[in-house]
Amino acid sequence: MNETLDIIHNRKSVRTFQDTPVDTETVNTIINTAMRAPTAGNMMLYSILEIEKQDLKDALAKSCDNQPFIAKAPLVLLFLADYQRWFDFFMASDVPAYCKAESIPLRYPGEGDLLLACCDALIAAQTAVIAAESLGVGSCYIGDIMEKYEYHRELLNLPQYTFPVALLCFGYPTHSASTRKLTPRLPQTAVHFKDAYQRLDKTALADIFAGPTPQTYYDNTTNLGQHIYARKFAADFTIEMTRSVKKAIQEWIKTQSS
Ligand SMILES: Cc1cc2nc3c(=O)[nH]c(=O)nc-3n(C[C@H](O)[C@H](O)[C@H](O)COP(=O)(O)O)c2cc1C
Repeated sequence: MNETLDIIHNRKSVRTFQDTPVDTETVNTIINTAMRAPTAGNMMLYSILEIEKQDLKDALAKSCDNQPFIAKAPLVLLFLADYQRWFDFFMASDVPAYCKAESIPLRYPGEGDLLLACCDALIAAQTAVIAAESLGVGSCYIGDIMEKYEYHRELLNLPQYTFPVALLCFGYPTHSASTRKLTPRLPQTAVHFKDAYQRLDKTALADIFAGPTPQTYYDNTTNLGQHIYARKFAADFTIEMTRSVKKAIQEWIKTQSS
């Protein structure tokens, strides 16, 4: 182990924060460290929106599946997949005139560009998480930001070629948050293959999911697979996320020509 590995191995999501604000210097260190993350072609296809206003934090706490701790987080950063900046630059650089002169169609951002921009945004987000952790600042991702696309777009003035892929709450952990146990992980054999993907049979699946089970199973379910299916995979929030992401993709590719 070394200091970097210690930080990564001891990180845990923090959902209760001390009132202590995260000062500007620390915020800037977190952000400019995130900006050292690798990005596709060094295009930095992301933006970071710092949510400062309390009424916006309150609105996000509600819209992100009613998670009040979002409103109490001293620092809230939204990581956006962002092709808008580059596409605006293409337009400002007379790319349409170039395409016309060359008799080639003007290309608009497509699904691949969206996924690539999501990769950039998420790698930057996780770099921010580790930077913060190294400074004693805890964090928690909020995946529900991908729900209610139309509402979030309006609330935060998000243009067409942006997509809110990760919301991160940051703050100094309370004693109980910093002393809680690490969450378990699947065994390495479940996730690490060599050269070809290996699907697991029923026995192997039973083995890798043989860890701790919930104290009570959700809604008439009787085993872990059924529990996670009902509680997560087929839950209302997941169904809303799928609707919302589909809408966001439709919006993103509206003007796509190739
Ligand atoms: C993409 C993503 C979305 C998440 N969304 C939420 C969320 O909406 N609310 C929450 O409390 N935790 C959320 N988490 C945190 C996970 O629940 C947490 O990472 C997981 O349980 C493992 O715990 P650990 O981070 O403490 O190791 C999210 C994590 C990720 C990576």
